Amino acid sequence: MEAKAIPLLTPYTMGRFDLSHRLSAQWTSTSFLYGQADHASGSQGWNCGGILCPNREDEIPQIVSDFQLAARNCIEAGFDGVEIHCAFGYLIEQFMKDSVNDRTDKYGGSMENRCRFALEVIQAAIDEIGADRVGVRLSPYSNWLDCWDSDPDALGLYMIHTMNKLGVLYCSMVEPEAVKVDGKVQIPYKLLHFRKAFAGTFIVAGGYNREEGNKAVSEGYTDLVAYGKWFLANPDLPKRFELNTPLNKYDRSTFYTPDPVVGYTDYPFLDLSSV
Ligand SMILES: Cc1cc2nc3c(=O)[nH]c(=O)nc-3n(C[C@H](O)[C@H](O)[C@H](O)COP(=O)(O)O)c2cc1C
Repeated sequence: MEAKAIPLLTPYTMGRFDLSHRLSAQWTSTSFLYGQADHASGSQGWNCGGILCPNREDEIPQIVSDFQLAARNCIEAGFDGVEIHCAFGYLIEQFMKDSVNDRTDKYGGSMENRCRFALEVIQAAIDEIGADRVGVRLSPYSNWLDCWDSDPDALGLYMIHTMNKLGVLYCSMVEPEAVKVDGKVQIPYKLLHFRKAFAGTFIVAGGYNREEGNKAVSEGYTDLVAYGKWFLANPDLPKRFELNTPLNKYDRSTFYTPDPVVGYTDYPFLDLSSV
């Protein structure tokens, strides 16, 4: 009964999916390093044998088709859907942001050109598995890996308006850096205009704890809240939020390490016999 009163633990219907609560686990993968080796070149490319080379325009259709195949493979492997990762300085965001994209072809220059690759990938995934199975992660305010944009609001809104036309299921967006005031996490709550513009399910991420997540949901700032570090350290995070029990502390020294277990799957579940 008590769970019903906790905003994060209320059910939510996202397209064809009936969700039992509003917490989502955000990417905290050991695959973090893949695909970012090309960043230092300042132009979008793959790291081929140590030489950084930008993707030629005529190579891009093949890359889009690789994403399309990956989406198909995910569904065949049993996933409900895919998230197209247009965030945090990885390949797609390198096209989108003007601090990095120095192309002179139809994938560089204007905002529309810079977003072209992202939208081609999203469209290809939609063509393959349906818009009701495709979500998109965006981080317009991030400068992670030196990948930033001079007009993040225009960039984010352009993506969102186009994603609306494509019928994208959800948009998961990263808050600008959270700050601590008097020892308490303070979420900047800078995403409201994006949330209002997006027609599908909106997910926020970045710095949220139980209290801030409940506030964001109850005030209608977001539909769902994605947790990174806390979900990593607490495999039963929804249960802990429901019971309002202490959380396992995360260990930063094991973030981004290649070990598939230590720091990833070795955090303990709550001992329910003790609560
Ligand atoms: C160990 C670790 C690995 C991460 N890996 C990724 C990743 O591969 N891709 C990504 O977009 N974000 C990644 N993130 C960032 C999280 O998705 C999330 O945006 C960030 O941790 C902020 O949310 P939080 O304050 O709830 O942790 C990672 C975070 C951590 C701690």
